[in-house]
Amino acid sequence: DAAGRRVVELVAAPGTHEFLPGLATPTWGYGGLPFGGPTVRARRGEEVVLRVTNRLPETTTTHWHGATLPARADGGPHQPIPPGGTWEASWRLDQPAATLWYHPHPHGRTERHVHRGLCGLFLVDDDVPVDLPARYGVDDVPLVLTDRSFTPDGAFDEQHRNAVGLLGDTVLVNSTVAPYLDVTTTRVRLRVLNASPARSYRVVLDDETPLTLVGTDGGLLPAPRVVDGVVLTPGERAEVVVDLVPGRRRVLRSVSHDLGAVNGVTRAAGAHDSFDLLELRPAPRLEPSPPLPARLSREAPLAEAAAARTRRFTLSHDRINGLAMDMTRVDEVVPVAATEIWEFTNRHTLPHNMHVHDARMQVLERGVPAAERPWKDTVAVPPARTVRALVRVGPHADPEVPYMLHCHLLRHEDDGMMLQFLVV
Ligand code: C2O
Ligand code: CU
Ligand code: CU
Repeated sequence: DAAGRRVVELVAAPGTHEFLPGLATPTWGYGGLPFGGPTVRARRGEEVVLRVTNRLPETTTTHWHGATLPARADGGPHQPIPPGGTWEASWRLDQPAATLWYHPHPHGRTERHVHRGLCGLFLVDDDVPVDLPARYGVDDVPLVLTDRSFTPDGAFDEQHRNAVGLLGDTVLVNSTVAPYLDVTTTRVRLRVLNASPARSYRVVLDDETPLTLVGTDGGLLPAPRVVDGVVLTPGERAEVVVDLVPGRRRVLRSVSHDLGAVNGVTRAAGAHDSFDLLELRPAPRLEPSPPLPARLSREAPLAEAAAARTRRFTLSHDRINGLAMDMTRVDEVVPVAATEIWEFTNRHTLPHNMHVHDARMQVLERGVPAAERPWKDTVAVPPARTVRALVRVGPHADPEVPYMLHCHLLRHEDDGMMLQFLVV
C-alpha cells in the first residue's frame, strides 16, 4: 500500500473442484481458489498486513506456519475468525528466506478445515543474493503435496481414519491428480510442502539418481547437499534442485520408507505406499541454469553452549507430558529470543512429529557438525526415540497470548496433543 506495507487479502470460502473426471468435489479454499490458496510472498524487512475474511459456515483461524511473529498475529486457536468476520495480522517480517505456509488452526477442528482444502504457501525472500533458480513457476516451482480419498459421489472421504489420521489413496499435487511440468531449463528448484493431515512421503527420483537438497523448513542450508531422497512428515518442507537432460522425462515419486516404527505401524501409517508425484518433461532444448553456489545460507548456527536450559516433552499416544491441550492453561514460559534445548521423547509405538510456533530449530544429531544443521520448525519423533533440538524463539514478548507446540499429525493435534507456551 501507500505506506510501503505488503497487504494481502485472503477470503476463505466454500467451493467445488473437479479432481476426478466428471465429479464435483465440495471444497474449501482461500483467495477465490476452490481448494488450497494463493502463494503469499513477502520480503524480509517488510511490514506485512494479512487480512483474512471468513465466508465459511464455521469459525476458523489462519496460522502462518514457520513465521517468527507476535503471538497475536500467529493465527492459532486464540485468534478465531467467526463466519462473516475479518481478522488482520501484521508484523515486520524478520527471518531468512524460507518456504513457509499457512493453514487453519481452530482448536479441535484443524484436520477438518485443512482436509477441506485450506492451505497455501508463504514464501519469504531476503536480500542475500543466492544463485538458485528463482523464476516462480518456471524454474522455482512449489509442490504442495496432500492426499485424499473420495466417496463414490466425489466428496472427500472424511470418515475412514486410523490411528495416524486421515490417509488418502490419491495424491494431489497443487490440487492436481497426476500432474506434469514442462521444463525449459537444465535445473529446477522444487519447493515441496507436505500439507497432508497424516501421511509422510519419501521424495525420490524414479531413476534413483540423487537430488540436491538446498533448503528445509526454516530456510536454506549452509551448502547444497546431495541426497538419495527426502522424508517429509506432515508440515515439513524441503527445497530440492533437480538436474535435467533435454527430452528425458523423469518422475518425482514418493516411495516406501521407514518411520522408525514396527512394520505394522509403518504400514498403517501409509509409509509403505508409493505414488508418482510429478512428471518432469524437459523440452528438446534447455536453457542452461547457472551452477549451484557452493555456499547458500551464511547464517550462524545456534550455539549449544548458549542454550540457557533444557525442557523435556514426553509423548504418549495423544498426550504431551501427560497433558491434553487446555486453552486456559499455560504450560511453559520462555524468555524472549531465548535459545534452549527442547527434548522430545516418544514413548509410544505411533510416529509423531513436533512443531513449535514462533521458533526456528536445529536438531542436535551425533556426527552432524553445527555448521551443517538444517533449520527446522517441525521434526519427526519416531517411536522409542528422543530428539534433541536447539530451539530459538522469536523477539516478540506477550505476557498474555500463548503460542502452540504440538504434533502435526492433525488428528493428534485435534485430540489434544498440543501445549501452550508464553514468550515473555
Ligand atoms: Cu502448521 Cu500449529 O501448525
Ligand atoms: Cu505453526
Ligand atoms: Cu502425533
